[in-house]
Amino acid sequence: MSKIISGKIVSAEVRESLKKETEALIESAGIHPGLAVILVGNDPASQVYVRNKQLACEELGFHAFEYKLSENTTQEQLLDLINILNKDKKVHGILVQLPLPDHLDEKSVLYSITPEKDVDAFHPLNVGKIMIGNYDVLPCTPAGVMEMIDWAGIEISGKKCVVVGRSNIVGKPMAMLLLQRSGTVTICHSKTKNLKEVCADADILVVAIGKPKFVTADMVKEGAVVIDVGINRDENNKLCGDVDYENVEPKASFITPVPGGVGPMTITMLMKNTLHAAKLQNGIKD
Ligand code: GUN
Repeated sequence: MSKIISGKIVSAEVRESLKKETEALIESAGIHPGLAVILVGNDPASQVYVRNKQLACEELGFHAFEYKLSENTTQEQLLDLINILNKDKKVHGILVQLPLPDHLDEKSVLYSITPEKDVDAFHPLNVGKIMIGNYDVLPCTPAGVMEMIDWAGIEISGKKCVVVGRSNIVGKPMAMLLLQRSGTVTICHSKTKNLKEVCADADILVVAIGKPKFVTADMVKEGAVVIDVGINRDENNKLCGDVDYENVEPKASFITPVPGGVGPMTITMLMKNTLHAAKLQNGIKD
């Protein structure tokens, strides 16, 4: 088996099984999973992400509901739309694409999505459920990382796991998921002392710090599993991760590339959350 864990391969396999599950759900219960995506404004990167979500819905046989709102949309208009979607039985997942324009209050927008339809898992109720290990949805990036670790057959229990980065979207939930699988977890961040030594002790190193090629070979133990969540541009404007891949790869037992690593997993995990939400909202338990 290759030491490179390809997000493209893992994602394609997960999508294949989600597609079958969706076909079965439509046939047995007449339920089409439905995802509503709201985009406010004209951010070009967000437009690409939203388009990719739409394509994923088409691929899997989901209903896609797309709302492209003007840059000048008011908080009240946005909350009104979310309120309508919260009640719409055809919509099982609601995603508000971030970042929002500055005049909108991101927190109150995200918290207005009913937790049952919060397929980003950003609502405090869903965040809290992850903390106690009793969750229905997981944030897409950490969920994608776990899927890749499992796909490669990597044992987590008892391993020293180091997460670099403490964001609410990646670092914190990532640490919780590894802890839940009985990893011994350390979270590092910009104020961590002896960061190099802490990283170099890791059996499983997950890096989500947003700095190009931040993790160098001297920070990685021989045989470590290295998961790179970063998406950056290097000095030549080429896509690169938070890990100095070229020099770290020879030391790693498994490693994820950038591009083609964790990135392709995230929308697939969004689809998984939406399918799961559709089942739960119709009283179907896995
Ligand atoms: N923009 C960039 N990443 C994300 C994400 O994971 N969820 C949402 N809603 N917006 C994003």
